[in-house]
Amino acid sequence: MAPLKPEERLIVALDFDTGRSALEMVDRLLDNVRIFKVGSELFTACGPKIVGEIQKRGCKVFLDLKFHDIPNTAAKSAAAAARLGVFMMNVHASGGEEMMKRCAEAVKVEAHKMGVSAPKLIAVTVLTSLDKKALKKIGVDVNIQAHVLALSHLAARAGLDGVVSSPMEIGPVRKKLGGGFLIVTPGVRPEWAASNDQKRFATPAEAVRKGATYVVVGRPITGVENPPVACQRIIEEIKGACGRS
Ligand code: C5P
Repeated sequence: MAPLKPEERLIVALDFDTGRSALEMVDRLLDNVRIFKVGSELFTACGPKIVGEIQKRGCKVFLDLKFHDIPNTAAKSAAAAARLGVFMMNVHASGGEEMMKRCAEAVKVEAHKMGVSAPKLIAVTVLTSLDKKALKKIGVDVNIQAHVLALSHLAARAGLDGVVSSPMEIGPVRKKLGGGFLIVTPGVRPEWAASNDQKRFATPAEAVRKGATYVVVGRPITGVENPPVACQRIIEEIKGACGRS
């Protein structure tokens, strides 16, 4: 993969409940942002047409629907997402190796049929909202970092392109999985931004220096008065860190 430009490493989370407000934000950021994240709130509110509207404006879409189902259903869902021409999508690694493998195959088959490059398929390992106690309550009594690494390794073995990783686990995941594995990191806060409800966050520069391929940023951009300026500041910060990553 050719080295990414700093502006290609920023993904803006469109956490909106209407297509109109999401697209207003996309239009304001068109000069700065290449990739937007559509999550379950926006997708459930608007349906697949929101993906097409963003693509029509020349931008890529990371479809963050975190599929987790029996392998057949998850693979069919992944194929349907691939038919939307998204750039990136994700599944839960805890759906298991077979589910991930089937999804990876399904997106490649669909992309091949359409004559386009396959979407990047990444895995969610352990949700950052779950701490050790919460995991234990659902029967997962493990060391969180070891579990994240084991699931990341399983995702790579199943043919996935990368993982979603909190800032805390970027370093160990990068070390274990090597340079080509994609690491997509939310929970990113520039020093000048409010932390909101993110507890274990890193600045964009720290995330990139630790080895994140992409950083996902929502409210520090979408929740401020001048989103384009916030974007430019973050891209500058990424640029400054790139040389030293
Ligand atoms: O507004 P903020 O920058 O906190 O948005 C972060 C985005 O990344 C949201 O869409 C959120 O759902 C997502 N995310 C996260 N933490 C995770 C996984 C996803 O904040 N562990």
